[in-house]
Amino acid sequence: MLVLGIETSCDETGFAVYDSAKGLLAHSLYSQVALHADYGGVVPELASRDHVRKILPMLNEVLTKAGVTKQAIDGIAYTAGPGLMGALMVGGSMATGLGFTLDVPVIGVHHMEGHLLAPMLEDTPPEFPFVALLVSGGHTQLVLVEGIGRYQLLGESLDDAAGEAFDKIAKMLDLDYPGGPVLATMAEKGQVQRFDFPRPMTDRPGLDFSFSGLKTHTRNLIEKYRGDDVLPDDQTVLDICAGFQEAVVDTLVIKCKRALKQTGMSKLVIAGGVSANKRLREKLETELAKNNAEVFYARHEFCTDNGAMIAYAGCQRLLAGERSELALSVTPRWPLQNLSSIEELS
Ligand code: KG4
Ligand code: ZN
Repeated sequence: MLVLGIETSCDETGFAVYDSAKGLLAHSLYSQVALHADYGGVVPELASRDHVRKILPMLNEVLTKAGVTKQAIDGIAYTAGPGLMGALMVGGSMATGLGFTLDVPVIGVHHMEGHLLAPMLEDTPPEFPFVALLVSGGHTQLVLVEGIGRYQLLGESLDDAAGEAFDKIAKMLDLDYPGGPVLATMAEKGQVQRFDFPRPMTDRPGLDFSFSGLKTHTRNLIEKYRGDDVLPDDQTVLDICAGFQEAVVDTLVIKCKRALKQTGMSKLVIAGGVSANKRLREKLETELAKNNAEVFYARHEFCTDNGAMIAYAGCQRLLAGERSELALSVTPRWPLQNLSSIEELS
C-alpha cells in the first residue's frame, strides 16, 4: 500500500510517501522557523497561511522525489490533532480533497502516535511491548505501549512540557529562536556542576513530571547574575544552560527507569522533539545498559515534526481497515489513550 503522509499541525509542512512493502520512499520538510523568529514563537494565523502557500508545491516535490504519480497513491494520512486548529485544517482539507478526487481512503492521524511510531522507520525498530517517553514542545508523557493504539498513560507533566521549558529558558537567556536546540548546543560548552538545580518530583513515588519549579529556579538564577538590562556573562550563560539541561535530563532518566521497573519492561522508546537531545540519549543509553535495558529513537530529522511518521502511522491504520470521514474533522485536543487499537479495528 502506497500512502501519502501530510503533517501541518504546527510550524512545519511535512510530506512523505511510505510504501508498506518497500518502506519510506521520500519525504520533504519545510520549516517556518524564519517566519516566526521575529515573534519569538509560533503565530497560529501566519502558520496556517504559510501551510496554504507551501502545500501544493511540496506535494509535487515529494511525489517527484519518490518517483511516483499521484494516481499511484492508495491512501492518504494527515495529522488530525493535537495541534493548531487552522494549521491542522490546511493539511486536513488537502488530504480529504485529494482522497475524494483520487477515490482513495483518508485517515486522520494522532500527532503523538506519529512521534511514538517514528522509531519504526529505523533499521532496527523496537518490538512491542515497550515504554515510550514522549517529549515534545507540547507533551511530556510516559506511556505503556502494547501495540498500535494500545496505550496506557503512566505519567505526564502537570504543567510545562520538557520542550516548552527548554524554549522558555532559552527565551529568558535571549537565545535565538527556536530555543530548545540552541540551548542544548550551548549546554555542551558549560560546566554542569557550577550551579545546583532541582530534579523536580523525583524524591517521591509516581511517574508524573513538573517543570515549572525548575523554570522558576532558573529564572531566579538568571536574575541574580543579570546586571541592569544586561545578561549574565557568557560563561555563566553556558553554565546555566548546562546545569538546566542536566536537571531536565536527570529528571527524565529517573522517571524512565522507574517506569521500566514498574512495568517490568526492558525497552524504552523516546520520541518527539526533545528526543533529539544528545545528552538525553547518551545518559539513557548508559543508565539503561546497567539494567540490561535498551533505548530506541528515530534518526534526528524524524524526532521533530515530519511527514514520514504520519505516513507510517496512517499506513498501519489504513491496512487495518480504519478510515476517516470525508467530512473533515480535526481535533486540537485529543488524548492519546482515546485511540482505538489495530486489533479492535480488524
Ligand atoms: O516534536 P516537536 O518538533 O513539536 C511538537 O510536537 O511540539 O518538538 C519541538 C520541541 C521544541 O520545544 C524544541 O525546543 C524541542 O522540541 N527540541 C529540543 C531539541 N530539539 C528540539 N529540546 C532539547 N534539545 C534538543 N536538541
Ligand atoms: Zn511534534
